[in-house]
Amino acid sequence: MLLPRPLSTTPGDGELVLDAATRLHAPEELWGVLAWLQGALRPATGLPLREADEPADARVVLALDPALGERLGPESFTLRVTARGVLVTGADRAGAFYGCQALLQLLPPEVHRRALVTGVRWAVPAVEVEDAPRFGWRGAMLDVARHFMPKHDVLRFVDLMAMHRLNVLHLHLTDDQGWRLEVRRHPRLTEVGAWRRESQVGATEDSPGDGRPHGGYYTQDDVREIVAHAAERCITVVPEIESPGHVQAALAAHPELGVTGEPLEVFTRWGIDPNVLNTEESTVAFFTDVLDEVMDLFPSRYIGIGGDECPKEQWRADPRTQELMRERGLATEEDLQAWFVRRLDDHLTARGRRLFGWDEILEGELAPGATVASWRGMAGAVAAARRGHDVVACPDDVVYLDYRQSESPDEPIPVSIPLTVEDVYAFEPVPPQLSEDEARHVLGGQANIWTEHADSPRTVDYLAFPRLCAVAEALWSRGERDFPDFERRLQEHLARLDAVGVEHRRADGPRPWQQRPGVPGRPDTREEREAHVAQLVAGISAP
Ligand code: ACM
Repeated sequence: MLLPRPLSTTPGDGELVLDAATRLHAPEELWGVLAWLQGALRPATGLPLREADEPADARVVLALDPALGERLGPESFTLRVTARGVLVTGADRAGAFYGCQALLQLLPPEVHRRALVTGVRWAVPAVEVEDAPRFGWRGAMLDVARHFMPKHDVLRFVDLMAMHRLNVLHLHLTDDQGWRLEVRRHPRLTEVGAWRRESQVGATEDSPGDGRPHGGYYTQDDVREIVAHAAERCITVVPEIESPGHVQAALAAHPELGVTGEPLEVFTRWGIDPNVLNTEESTVAFFTDVLDEVMDLFPSRYIGIGGDECPKEQWRADPRTQELMRERGLATEEDLQAWFVRRLDDHLTARGRRLFGWDEILEGELAPGATVASWRGMAGAVAAARRGHDVVACPDDVVYLDYRQSESPDEPIPVSIPLTVEDVYAFEPVPPQLSEDEARHVLGGQANIWTEHADSPRTVDYLAFPRLCAVAEALWSRGERDFPDFERRLQEHLARLDAVGVEHRRADGPRPWQQRPGVPGRPDTREEREAHVAQLVAGISAP
């Protein structure tokens, strides 16, 4: 059974068994997809699955049919399996790729193992599937700043996203606690900014440090590899360079970018850090230099500049910042934040890119192309769409996958409100308040995986799966949600994740090694969270 749920499935008679004689064919435009499919099928089956020059000589045929796109939209596909063969037809390359992903799900879950599995019949039941996604932005944000995720694990995460037909990887590359991207013109950003002395263990202010250095960064060659690996799997990598807050790692490397100019270390605590950028022209130029290298590395149309949670105390207290505000005719520190974001926006827009930022960027005027990630609930989504900006929905109270998964104290370092698989499955990216025209601005949504309390890829597995499977279905599948039906399909799907080696959360809670006994969390009730967010979004409808 398929996950995400397809538009339509019609079972047929019989089955197709892959064997040593099975050959594959694809037109030249789909050779990359074919190579991916061979790579996916060969290790576990041990079959040669060689290519045939002519479709008539192949049992598995990939094809393109742009007319399908006219009927079902981009990324759509049909998958037809009979006893005689398999035909995967994509409206485009992505459609063909997703048709192949669906084909893989029709095979026994052992197909996901990476070495020969004996004693399995590689049978595909006869069926006709028609499918197309609801949204074009089906994303996951990975915070590789709080805890570095080695390149190898990022590539694995990309594979897992592709398996769920997610197509945007938003990489949160910089924050107070680490700078993870090599910048050729400013090597200190990683020489200094990629490493911290220790990490806070626990979510309370008095949580101790662990006394262990942490860090890592991606070289530009690593980035090119991640971007290419993702592109082969129809995934766009959207980079994010945080500013003007969440910058202490950059300030550790370059104190001259800060308001105080004082030496700082890379932040070893969680929570919001008062140290922000000064807004001197030289600092704007530093960040546009960084963005130039980012644009060279990442072909994404969208470039993230952060923009969230920028404390204003240092700007308020600093005579030089106040003087800059007067020179620029800016009345408030909020206006200064908007001025800074606008400078980056102009730089990106002039180069044909679009600024992508957290919903705090709505506190100022933006270029029309600026795209807003609505995270403090859905208030930002409504405000942005009404102002004509594109929106990516990622409300914290539905799709923040760092939030705890149950009320149990055994959840590892439990933070915020409980979000079960069922809660996440209810994700609806289009706010009901929007008119049909306004709703067109909703590009889709994404799950956000913050990693303050996820210090290894194992913990990311625990937080992300199976909740990310529910996000994938909410973003892909059209029609009514049906959680019991999803749950039945998820049971089968978990066998696939087990075969891949994903350490997902079990329905009965964390295993002992997934718990962090004695490490303090910071759980909230829904009421506490709502009161907090209501305060945060008070300024969102301005200007
Ligand atoms: C955020 O969670 N600060 C975007």
